[in-house]
This record gives sequence, structure tokens and C-alpha cells, in this order.
Amino acid sequence: MCGIVGYAGNKEALAVIIDGLKKLEYRGYDSAGVAFLDDGELVVVKSAGSVAALEGAMGERSSEIKTGIGHTRWATHGRPTDENAHPHRSCCGEIALIHNGIIENYRSIRQRMLDQKTHTFSSETDTEVLAHLIEENYEGDLLKAVRRALKEVKGSYGLVAISSREPGRLVCARQDSPLVIGLGKGENLVASDIPAIIAHTRRALVLEDGEFASVTMDKVEVYDHKGLLVEKDELEITWDIEAAEKGGYDHFMLKEIMEQPAAVKETMRQRINASEGRVDLSELEFAADQIKSFEKIYIVACGTAYHAGLLGKTIIERLANLPVEVEVASEFRYREPLLNDKQLVIVISQSGETADTLAALRLAREKGVSVLAITNVVGSSVSREADRILYTWAGPEIAVASTKAYLTQLIALYLIAIYFGEARGTIEKKEMDEIVNGLAALPAKLKSILTEESVSRLRTYCEHLAKWESAFFIGRNLDYPVAMEGALKLKEISYIHAEAYAAGELKHGPLALIVEGIPVIALATQQAVLDKTLSNIQEVIARGGAVFAITQEGFNDVSKQIEAIFYLPPTDDILAPVLSAVPTQLIAYYAATARGSSVDKPRNLAKSVTVE
Ligand code: F6R
Repeated sequence: MCGIVGYAGNKEALAVIIDGLKKLEYRGYDSAGVAFLDDGELVVVKSAGSVAALEGAMGERSSEIKTGIGHTRWATHGRPTDENAHPHRSCCGEIALIHNGIIENYRSIRQRMLDQKTHTFSSETDTEVLAHLIEENYEGDLLKAVRRALKEVKGSYGLVAISSREPGRLVCARQDSPLVIGLGKGENLVASDIPAIIAHTRRALVLEDGEFASVTMDKVEVYDHKGLLVEKDELEITWDIEAAEKGGYDHFMLKEIMEQPAAVKETMRQRINASEGRVDLSELEFAADQIKSFEKIYIVACGTAYHAGLLGKTIIERLANLPVEVEVASEFRYREPLLNDKQLVIVISQSGETADTLAALRLAREKGVSVLAITNVVGSSVSREADRILYTWAGPEIAVASTKAYLTQLIALYLIAIYFGEARGTIEKKEMDEIVNGLAALPAKLKSILTEESVSRLRTYCEHLAKWESAFFIGRNLDYPVAMEGALKLKEISYIHAEAYAAGELKHGPLALIVEGIPVIALATQQAVLDKTLSNIQEVIARGGAVFAITQEGFNDVSKQIEAIFYLPPTDDILAPVLSAVPTQLIAYYAATARGSSVDKPRNLAKSVTVE
């Protein structure tokens, strides 16, 4: 999720690279750096902060520098500091590289290097081992060295390396992290994202997983994983800069909805082992006895993150047999909750900067309660102050309405529930196997929901919804918090007043509001309460409500009663909220666009609420 730019050509390389990094900076990166050859010597300049801070650190540089690489970092392994910023350099100082992704086995590689006393490390990052590995494999050909080095590596990468022994050459490789090569006249570029190259060229090659490339100012060669040359089709880029920033989508929100399969996969990476049916959260450094000793969990958060917490309650109570209370942070902090050291407080915050959540965290710590934070931003206030952190690897979220961060927060809660359940002996091995395998299957299922064909199923309903000023979301059990989150999403971006009700509550009041044609989105993904939910849906249909149902394939009773249906691929009921959230996000998105709302920046709202 970081930004990569590499340049080999006849222009001033540093100006091109800095310009490219600025084009990627709108995502709010935390540090930046460049590496280039100056008079045959490999120079690295990097600093925490913005690209402007990097420019300051670079000072005046020769206009004769024609090759280089640059990076903007969104911290993952290691805090956002000067040392942890990319590029990273090998010990001999002749090789530098920039990297997006995660090297899963970096700890064992680093340990091996430390044991053998072959390398010294100057950062906390996973990436630095790559620079050393390439150096170990270097025999005069950077491409071969990169290929050999990557054989030892598990994980994801989009990387670009340079060597002072091969001036004018960039070598890049891709696995699960995007890289494009921009083809120019007398120049070629490499970038993680198209906005960084379109000022220079509209012709590009997209690297596929397992491919490598050697790039000089007048030649680009792409190789497959076996080292055979690949003929690639050129892509013609027709987007303008604004569209390119959004990956070709009309809004960041839609781009971020589409990124959910990858965000979910990234958040589970290294933490689940599907073949063994286990979750590994040893990164949290809980002693098994400690997990057993907890008597209660408080989950504290705001807005969308609070809704994730509501789902977390049912999931943790079910799998770890541990009572959970969920509270909005602005209430928790002022109501003198009964806190003691047999409890765990879990705070959830995408930004890690929400003032109320931070205050709740501080209150809990003051009272001696251990705090586990689920957050998306390394180095955020929440991450600095919590006792333990479980990062969601959703990458930068730009749209005010949270989508991919929410889904990854849910994943984090499943992981905690399973991990705690195993430690407390409250989850059967068979059930754990099923849920872990179900989790591993979610990215593919999310992808299938996000196809054009699937999305088209809700467009017509959204046109109807967009004409109304009021709508309802209903559901039971795990479907109820999903309904609450669906209503929040619709409210904030379409400005349609939306209410969520536990479906069984309708007859206790809200049914009075059901009139002919009023939109009612019904979540019906939970087999155990399906009959009850269907009766509630009938209550709405009988009064003329226009029901749109979100259900699982195979729940045939739903299709017998309702025409407008969105089917989710079948999944374990406990995991259904991850899938069912997506059509609710899309409903909000298409209703908002039909009304011409400002989707990414809704009125009166800010992405991060740092005031009370
Ligand atoms: C709604 C939304 C907000 C945030 C809330 C908490 O789409 O994004 O409700 O969830 O402001 O923000 P974080 O998670 O950054 O603490």
C-alpha cells in the first residue's frame, strides 16, 4: 500500500521521482525516501514525514542524475521513522531497494543473518532483509540476484532495486502487490500506481505475479518466474490524473469497496493457518493463563468501528465464552464504568486518532485495565498508547465513509475470538477448522460479490431508494449490527434518513412508519432465525414496504417470498457479516450517486474526529 516510483531516462531523475511521489501522496503517507547514483556512488536520502520534508533533506542535487528510485511509506513493520523509511541499503552500500508488501518470514531470515554475523541491520523493517539477501546473491547481475533472493522469501512484494555496479538499470519484481512499467521515449518508469507515471507516458506494461523486469532508459525486458522472456501486451492509459488516483473508479469509496478482498486477505496473512485450522496471534504476546483469566471484555469505539464491535460481542461470546460489553467511546468515558484488572478493553479505531476512543483507552489504562487496540494506522496515538496492537492491514482509507477498514476490523475480531477460544478451551477443534477455513475462503467470495453482474442486481433497487427520504434496515442476531452499519452508511453519504431495527422490534413501534413503497433492506443470512426474520419481512410486505433482501444462496424460502434479492455465496453463518456488509455498502453508494451526493466527502463529516 506504499508508493513506488523508479526512473531510468534522459530527464532529471530526482525531479521525476519527487513529482511521482507527490502524485501518490494524497493517501497520507508517513515517510519518504530516494536512492540514486551520483557520480557512480549510491546515495540514499530518506526522512519521516511528507515528500516536502524529503525534498528539504535532499538539498540541491546534480541535474546529471538520470536513474533512481523513490518511495512513500505507509508504515507496517516498524514505526514511521527516518531509519524505517525506504529505500533500504545492503551492507556493502552498493544495492538499494524499495518494497511494497510484507515479507512474512523476515524474522527467521534476519535471525539467520544475525547468527552468522553476515549483516548489520539499521531498521526495524521486514524490507531490509531483502536488501541483504540480494547482496548475498549478487554476482554481477542484479536481475539474477533478485530472482535468487526471492526464492528464500515468503510473502508479498512489489519491489524495485538498483545497484551502483549497474548504472542506469532498475530491476523489479511483483507478487501480490501491483507494479506498472511506463514506457516512454528515451525513458522508462516503474510505479506502484498509475498516477505516478501519467505525466510522462500513457503506454504501460502491467507486471503479473511472479514476473520480474529489467528496465533501462531504452529497454524493458520482462521475465516469468522461470526466467523466460515474456511478451507483454501494452496497456493504453486513458484516465486523467483524478481518475487515476481513484484507480479508474468515480470515487475513492468505490475503489475502497473493491479493494476489500485484498484488504481482508492481507489482514489474515500470517495470522491464520488454514491447513492446521488455527489462528496465530502470538504477536499480541498474551500468556495463555492471562487469556484464561479474563472475566469480561469491553469493546469501545465510535461509529462504524462501534458496529464492528457489536458483531465482535456475539462472535467472542460464542467462540471464547467470555462476556463482552460494547460501548460507544463518548459514553464509556463519562459514565464511570466498573473497571478492574480481570478485564480487557478492546478499542477499535481505523485512524487511531479519534478523540473519544483515545480518551476511553486512557481511562481504561488509568484504572489498570489492559488495552488491546485494533487500528489501521501504525504510529497513530492509539497504537502508541495501547498495551497491545492488532493492526488491520487495509491500507490508507481516503473516503470518509469507512468500508475496507470496517471489514478488516471484523476479521481482527474473528481472529481474537478464535485465538481466545482455543486458549480458553471453549472452541471445538472441528468448529475451529471450519471457521478458519471459512475465513480463508472469504477473499474469493468477496471478489465474486464484487463482479459487475452481481452488483447490477442492486442497481434498480437503488434507483427506487434514491427517491425516498427515509428507509429501514432490519435483521436479527448477527444481521442486526450489519443492518445498523448499512443504515449509517446510507445516512452519511446519501443523506436519506435511515433506521436500523432488530427485526423482532418492528411490531413494537416502527411498523407504524411502513407505508406503500418505503424501502426496507432486510438482512436474512442467519439460518437459526431465518423463519422469524421471514415473518418480520412478511409484516413489512403486507403493509406495502418495498423489501430488498440480502441472503445466502440456498436459503430458498427467501426467494419464495421476495423478488428483489441479493445472494451471497454460501458461508458459515458466523462469517456472513463480512459478506453481507458489501451489498449494504453498495446500496449506500449507488443511492448516493443517484442523488448526486458528495460521496467521498459528505457534508459536515471528517475522516478522523480528533475533537470531542
Ligand atoms: C463512518 C465512519 C465513522 C468512523 C468513526 C470512528 O463511515 O467512518 O463512523 O467509523 O468516526 O473512526 P475511527 O475508526 O477512525 O476511530
